[in-house]
Amino acid sequence: MSSATTPIEELAPRSEDEVREHLAAGKLVEGLQHMSPEYLKGIRRILTVSADTELVSAPAYLRAARHAPALNNFGSAVSIIQDELAHAHIGYRLLGDLGVDMGALIYERDAKAFKYPYAFDVPLDSWHELVMANALYDQAGFVLLSDVHHTSTFGPWKRALAKVDKEETFHLRHGRTWVKKLCAEPAEKARVQAAADWMFVLTLEWFGLPDERKRHGIQLEYGFKGMTNDELRQTWMAAVVPFMEEVGIDVPAQREDDHWVIDCPFPRAFDEEAKAWGDEITWEEVMARWKARGPMNDDYVEKLQRGYRQRQAMAP
Ligand SMILES: [Fe+2]
Ligand SMILES: [Fe+2]
Repeated sequence: MSSATTPIEELAPRSEDEVREHLAAGKLVEGLQHMSPEYLKGIRRILTVSADTELVSAPAYLRAARHAPALNNFGSAVSIIQDELAHAHIGYRLLGDLGVDMGALIYERDAKAFKYPYAFDVPLDSWHELVMANALYDQAGFVLLSDVHHTSTFGPWKRALAKVDKEETFHLRHGRTWVKKLCAEPAEKARVQAAADWMFVLTLEWFGLPDERKRHGIQLEYGFKGMTNDELRQTWMAAVVPFMEEVGIDVPAQREDDHWVIDCPFPRAFDEEAKAWGDEITWEEVMARWKARGPMNDDYVEKLQRGYRQRQAMAP
């Protein structure tokens, strides 16, 4: 029987109580031998979301990198893309250790089954949108992965994230340096503002349902995440909004006392062709949009899987 079909109960031999005792003793989970079925399911889910997000950012950023103003700027963008592929590799490699068939997961999965945030399904069509993605999306990635780095109870991932965190810092610094530079020119600044107008709210969505709608129970207990969705959203706004204010880009959020308040309808209808926001909608409607995926989903996944398919077709 291949590892892909081995029942989860056989792969993860410990009971939930044994995992709780192990964690209560201050020990990390180092592999399948320390896991219960619930732990294994949870860590697989969060690793898949993370690896898929890293992987899809590569074709998304490559599309926009074509608009680099000069060859050395293209080089910086490509080095970010290379980092993202390495980050994806870390996640998929760990999933392989946890009994998942990596080849099937990456190369044979249906595009709609990938678990990255909807934001990446909307195309980045300019250098302005690429650097705004570095400033907003990579900051979101940084907030989420720093949380995992600090709270994760899965040792191999926790250790690998030390390197990933440093590289994400480079990506968001690349974004901020460029946003600042472009904002010095009125015509360029208008394009940066237009990018922020559609990308800011998409990144707010990235953190998922509000806490009142979602129970985190086991995710928090097993250390898959430390902060709740709303806390992560707050942390992201605390990092991003003051920077946008500093460079004179308007974003719909402001500080009130000790927290950040979203200053527009939220959640909100999104016209993915026009990249424009509409009226307030329900989270059920947002989830329906996420599930249907957006305009670039098929294209990006096809690009990532094409070489594998061609090789399969050539195999004797
Ligand atoms: Fe990354
Ligand atoms: Fe990144």
